[in-house]
Amino acid sequence: MIRVQVPATTANLGPGFDCLGMALELYNIVELVQVPYGLTIEVTGEGTADIPRDVDNLVFKSAQRVFEQVDFKPTGLKIRLINQIPVARGLGSSTAAIIGGVIAANLLAGGRLSLKDIISLASSIEGHPDNVAPAVLGGIVISVQADGELKNMKIQPPQGIRCVVAVPDFILATKTSRDVLPSQVAFQDAIFNLGRVALLVAALQRGDFSLLGTAMEDHLHQPFRSVLVPGMKKVLAAAKLAGARGVTLSGAGPSVIALADGNFDLIARVMGDTFRQNGVKCRTLVLKPS
Ligand code: HSE
Repeated sequence: MIRVQVPATTANLGPGFDCLGMALELYNIVELVQVPYGLTIEVTGEGTADIPRDVDNLVFKSAQRVFEQVDFKPTGLKIRLINQIPVARGLGSSTAAIIGGVIAANLLAGGRLSLKDIISLASSIEGHPDNVAPAVLGGIVISVQADGELKNMKIQPPQGIRCVVAVPDFILATKTSRDVLPSQVAFQDAIFNLGRVALLVAALQRGDFSLLGTAMEDHLHQPFRSVLVPGMKKVLAAAKLAGARGVTLSGAGPSVIALADGNFDLIARVMGDTFRQNGVKCRTLVLKPS
């Protein structure tokens, strides 16, 4: 049996839209066995009610892409998914399914794809690399498409940092969250994000949390997405007041993630209460970077 463990991820980290992400200590497991015939898919944990058990399953579809690429024809497959990552909440659940399928299928087919091949295939299935690269490489990863390939650079998350995540109890499809974005942005907004993403990478690398609040601000996606996440702006403000160093929408949302070096329970409680005061049920998690 092949068993692959894939971490949750938080993309963008505020200003790094589609190019910056971090892996979190919360995992999905994909088990894959070749059987004489047919397709069986079992799901336990998160998404049990919603995840397809047939050829529409994302783990299966991603595995198929590998089998086609390396020309491997399994007789039949049994797939077991043990999920801890909340589905469609901005924590990389679809990436975990894609990576789990791609890596498990690659191992079953003899391991011919390199890590680089795996990251580029998974990114092309996902449409952007900022969850995929940290899910495979761990830590914080900067990903840039250049010269026809994806270039990744990993940095170690700073010591002592924790991610406090408020996870609303409604799903938000990434497509819906991308459909509200403009096709062009103002030059001043581009400059706003450029300075902050540079500051953010330097601050994370140096373990200097003093400017994270400023460094995690964003003008390219969050303002447009706030209409999809009731109470988002108030949760961002409340987390900072409770002691978070920086706070942002996690990926495409609807989860909000705060980076902190203390006061974790207080920050979690305040974020959860603020969502609830705005009519959004939610749960909170305190996670280490992975
Ligand atoms: N960078 C992507 C977005 C991440 O914000 O749409 C989606 O998980």
